[in-house]
Amino acid sequence: MQFCWNVRLISQKHIGIQSLFCLVLMAILLFSKLSVASTVDEVAQLRQIAQLAEYVGVDYASAVDNGQVINDDEYQEMLEFSQLIVDKTSSDNYVMHSLNEKASALQTAISTKQKVDTVRQFASELRISLLAMMPELPLPKRLLSKDATFSLFENNCASCHGLSGQGNGILASGLEPAPTDFTDKKRAENRSLLGLFDAISNGLDDTAMPAFTQLKEQQKWSLAFYVGSLAFQSSSEFIKPSQSISLQNWINYSPLKLSTETEGLTKNEIEGLRADPKLLFTNQSGPLAITKTQLAAASIAYKNEEYEKAKTLAVSAYLDGFELIENSLDARDKNLRKSIEGNLIKLRQVLSNAQQVNQLESLMEVTVRQLNDAEELLTETTLSNEALFTASLVILLREGLEAFWLYWL
Ligand code: HEC
Repeated sequence: MQFCWNVRLISQKHIGIQSLFCLVLMAILLFSKLSVASTVDEVAQLRQIAQLAEYVGVDYASAVDNGQVINDDEYQEMLEFSQLIVDKTSSDNYVMHSLNEKASALQTAISTKQKVDTVRQFASELRISLLAMMPELPLPKRLLSKDATFSLFENNCASCHGLSGQGNGILASGLEPAPTDFTDKKRAENRSLLGLFDAISNGLDDTAMPAFTQLKEQQKWSLAFYVGSLAFQSSSEFIKPSQSISLQNWINYSPLKLSTETEGLTKNEIEGLRADPKLLFTNQSGPLAITKTQLAAASIAYKNEEYEKAKTLAVSAYLDGFELIENSLDARDKNLRKSIEGNLIKLRQVLSNAQQVNQLESLMEVTVRQLNDAEELLTETTLSNEALFTASLVILLREGLEAFWLYWL
């Protein structure tokens, strides 16, 4: 098993533990395959509808203007895709059925040539409902370096999209529709990273854009972040965001949507982060950041009544994060260490019982504030390299696990 082989490289000293780990890993793989596989098809369907909805929202502007069709091919495509969405959501399947009303509203808006904003609104509402139904995606914890990503782009994409991503590669001239110009800001503002990732993974029907099934998840994500950065390079003077943002929301929503609604980040901050996505990832690599991420995820799972998942995440918040810096923090502020530990215990208790959302929220608030204090006390340099390394290793292993079994399906 290549995966276990990787682990062996990393921890040559722990051969015994490692074999045990491989056994446990295989057991988990087998188990997760059995328990989740039945929904995989459903998730793939939802992903595709979301992809279509976003595509319609982005491209409608080049099909209809002021109630008039301005490009007949594009308009036919809009009609076809919105029909496809309606068909997919008309199945007997309960999950799909609940989306049918929104899908029909979108279709009617297109067939009656409504305003761009109206169509975008319907497409966006449909997408939001879809995203809420999907499990969180396993994202890579790290992107490839910019150089490595660029050479992937150069070898696989530049022939059509052009070296600088302007859609002017050597093969571009005969293609209809032409390859996307990634520096077109108007278009990019309406594109989520998930939409870009899905286009790379699945290709786009009836266009020259192929599905890059041969690339690994991390390569495809790195490319999605890369092409998603090209329209914002001029705004790359980076401003540290005033608010944190979950990686999941960051990939799910377009820059326009993020700046107008969901997260309260300014347009400049969003564009800066799009221009330099690395910053999102490095922010998350320390043990305390991991604790915060896992707690936030636990709280979401709890509100979705997924109690087992919430508990698992809360335990991970401690083991994969805080525990690794406990000693360093103890040396600096014993009381803070004790208090955080106590709150993490309380949080795990609250998460084990239904209907304690209020307690959960106030505890979360206190704990996150304390974690921020701890983070300030322990600047990067005082965290031992080993603690950082262990934290990212633990996460890598877990993420590797998810990515690995996805490949297996
Ligand atoms: C053979 C030509 C070709 C190659 C090679 C190619 N693309 Fe494309 N790509 C296209 C065309 C054509 C479109 C569709 C444009 C449209 O529908 O308006 C497209 C669309 C896309 C989109 C959707 C963009 C949007 O905003 O809708 C993404 C993302 C994308 N390509 C990424 C890539 C990446 C990354 C690679 C390399 C790994 C790649 N493409 C390689 C031709 C190509």
